[in-house]
Amino acid sequence: MTTKVFSIANQKGGVGKTTTAINLAYALAESGLKTVLIDMDPQGNATSALGLENKEGGSVYGPLCGEGTILEQVQSVQSHTNLFMVPSEMDLAAIEVELAQRDNYLLQLTGLLEPLKASDNYDVILIDCPPALGMLSMNSLVAADYLIITLQAEYMAMEGLSQILKVLDSLKASSINPNLELGGILMTLFDRRVNLAHQVVGEVRKHFDELVFRNNIPRSVRLSEAPSFGQSIFEYDPNCAGAYAYKYFTEEFIERFDLGS
Ligand SMILES: Nc1ncnc2c1ncn2[C@@H]1O[C@H](COP(=O)(O)OP(=O)(O)OP(=O)(O)O)[C@@H](O)[C@H]1O
Ligand SMILES: [Mg+2]
Repeated sequence: MTTKVFSIANQKGGVGKTTTAINLAYALAESGLKTVLIDMDPQGNATSALGLENKEGGSVYGPLCGEGTILEQVQSVQSHTNLFMVPSEMDLAAIEVELAQRDNYLLQLTGLLEPLKASDNYDVILIDCPPALGMLSMNSLVAADYLIITLQAEYMAMEGLSQILKVLDSLKASSINPNLELGGILMTLFDRRVNLAHQVVGEVRKHFDELVFRNNIPRSVRLSEAPSFGQSIFEYDPNCAGAYAYKYFTEEFIERFDLGS
């Protein structure tokens, strides 16, 4: 199977990108798919949420600056034999400026992923993007086969969506990444007791139809607690509503992108 690359992005902050990245990565690994999660956010939330350290020299920063390959930065995640991670570090923030001075600055991550894909060791690469449409997110989109957008099921959910969709269109139209596709929109932080949440999901479905995943992720305190224990929801509380939601979403994800073996 060729390695498929998914970027989880939305320039809006706090919309469930990282929560989705870590739990999807874990559930994909659990289903037998060798999965690498790349933390492209200098905040390093995905890194600590999976129990790894943000430490100097341990991220894509070095390889992006021409030091070493990304293969050397792949770490095993102890909780699962199929789960791997390229952690983040604070220095990654500096790359915004450094990359801007390079030729082909949008294609830097694409180049780095080549040996990772060619190694034939991994089925899926997930990229957790920071809340901005800067160099890090742009490089992630250019390196991806599919863009996955998470949207908070609340007022103004679609605000800013046109911006990222415009970026998608321009990357597709250019020769930079003509193959990039909108893989899907995941509604997160869904509170089913709130009327507005249903209205928002209805609106988004009206616009994007089947692109919206059938499974929504409910607001669940357990999902917000798990990262502070360095655990995915499947280790922290496998029987809570949030764990079931991410389990069913992952099944839908595997089906949609034909990842089943
Ligand atoms: N379904 C959920 N139920 C309850 N809390 C959630 C849920 N999803 C995310 N959270 C919490 O909301 C906050 C933001 O979520 P998360 O970090 O996943 O968003 P993000 O889009 O990655 O944020 P950022 O843009 O800062 O990277 C976190 O504290 C997280 O634990
Ligand atoms: Mg995040």
